[in-house]
Amino acid sequence: MKYTKYSTVIIGSGIAGLYAALKVQQQVKLPDGILLITKSRLGESNSRYAQGGMVAVMKENKTDSVASHISDTIKAGAGLSEFNTIKFISENSDAVVKDLLKFGVQFDKDDDNKFCYTKEAAHSVRRILHSGGDATGRMIEHALCQKVRENENIEIYEQTDAVELLVDSNECKGVLVFNNDIGEYETVYSPAIILATGGIGQLYKYTTNPKGATGDGLALAYNAGAIMQDMEFVQFHPTALAIDGDENRFLISEAVRGEGAKLCDADGNEFMAKYDDRKELAPRDIVTRANFNEMKENNSENVYLNAACIDSKKLAKRFPTISKKCLEHGIDITRDFIPVAPAAHYFMGGIKTNLKGETSINGLYAIGEVASTGLHGGNRLASNSLLECVVCAYSVAKYLKTIDLKTPKQISEKIKQIIDKYNDEDIILEEIDIKSLKTKLQDIMWNYVGILRNEKSLVEANELIYRLKADFPRSSKCLNREEYEFRNMLTVSGLIADCALSRKESRGAHFRTDYPETPENCIHSCIVKDDFLDKEKNFVK
Ligand code: FAD
Ligand code: SIN
Repeated sequence: MKYTKYSTVIIGSGIAGLYAALKVQQQVKLPDGILLITKSRLGESNSRYAQGGMVAVMKENKTDSVASHISDTIKAGAGLSEFNTIKFISENSDAVVKDLLKFGVQFDKDDDNKFCYTKEAAHSVRRILHSGGDATGRMIEHALCQKVRENENIEIYEQTDAVELLVDSNECKGVLVFNNDIGEYETVYSPAIILATGGIGQLYKYTTNPKGATGDGLALAYNAGAIMQDMEFVQFHPTALAIDGDENRFLISEAVRGEGAKLCDADGNEFMAKYDDRKELAPRDIVTRANFNEMKENNSENVYLNAACIDSKKLAKRFPTISKKCLEHGIDITRDFIPVAPAAHYFMGGIKTNLKGETSINGLYAIGEVASTGLHGGNRLASNSLLECVVCAYSVAKYLKTIDLKTPKQISEKIKQIIDKYNDEDIILEEIDIKSLKTKLQDIMWNYVGILRNEKSLVEANELIYRLKADFPRSSKCLNREEYEFRNMLTVSGLIADCALSRKESRGAHFRTDYPETPENCIHSCIVKDDFLDKEKNFVK
């Protein structure tokens, strides 16, 4: 097996990983260089599909303030958002936007060359920057990818999966990677490994997330002994385009409702007033449950979004991607109702980190959707995720500047043992029908660990996941990427079901039909693998 060493390794090339690579490269002394690993092509990620925009409390936006952003985020977070985290991220938003502009990112401006701000659910003011109308993620990612590719100090491994972290005595020394193109393994040593591997949408039958969102970084960190936080909190977006047979669902941005579109049934009857005074702009979990309930009551596969009330020229200019996609399905959004239904969208839980990106394992950092900083609490406020990605990438780079990034000289027995599991040529792995196992898991998660849960459904989920584990007896070396992804999906699904079973209340996106109340006092949930139970006491950073 090939061995390499780098001063810093970043895993994942969404907006968090790309921006971290650029900032680390700018700020940190890197005697052994920097490596960016991504399992697909550079930039293929959830980030690419972000539509609505990125929250930014800009100094020039006199209608907005950090206090107002904090207040909205806290209200949406259902009691679990951390004040200091929100304050830190909000206060840094102006600076990161200005820095992104230097990297060639452009946000939409009006005729007076001032930023255009949009509004989404549960924001009290217009504070969301967007780019390319509704192509914010693609535009930011495109600019950052270009800068990363041009930068000769950033080495890039594409089509390469991180498959196991090399951790001994709570110190991360590197990562074992698998090049899916050539079927070869490599050991990468580094004193700083940054996980930026994104979310988990693919655990569910219906999702807005692309194929790669299989929770890999979460499984890797959990198996290495990291403390995981709030794993029961999965955000379902209320309005994904519901076209027959399409399980990976295209998103109809909340910004369309922000500009005035209404939810209705097939006859055009609006229903949101029944559920919340804020109607279409109530927090995402409330709108999701409203849509889900209407679908159940009407025995229908979807509800509808009526955007025809918005000026047609504005619709075309603001939402070119959505207009085009809907037209491909014969839906003219200036006239026709858009069929929409909820889909798994975002993961609020993750690897517990502090604001420097440190996890409970020394030398292991996490940023972006894979991390749980406490910003989102029980329910993420729209467009806060991209902001968290960039502020935390900026912050981890700043922190790495203060530490000595020396690669380890000696390899411990424990790490040799990890590597040997993958080096062993005698292990013969027989092919497994992953496609059918994956479909089963996605059905279990959707039906039993979905928008509404209860003790019976969660116990059932746990039993079914346990049986799937028996049908897939791989805990380390696998045959190919699909198997690695499925191995990780099983681990993370089990954690979500376990944590959902333990939280005996409803809060934000976690709704228990057997415990519908939301008590005033609440605490984060934490979970750590049995073998590492004492680590929980150690996370005092
Ligand atoms: P990602 O962008 O998901 O990137 C993860 C990267 O890690 C990918 O490159 C992936 O290939 C790589 N990776 C994963 N596992 C491995 C592995 N084992 N080895 C190597 N590489 C690996 N948020 C907002 O704030 N505003 C929005 O408007 C918005 N719209 C959205 C629309 C859609 C359709 C979706 C799906 C999400 C949206 N979100 C939005 C959420 C937001 O896009 C994501 O939370 C955010 O982009 C996550 O960025 P990230 O860099 O953490 O992860
Ligand atoms: C959207 O555009 O509706 C998605 C925004 C988000 O997930 O933050």
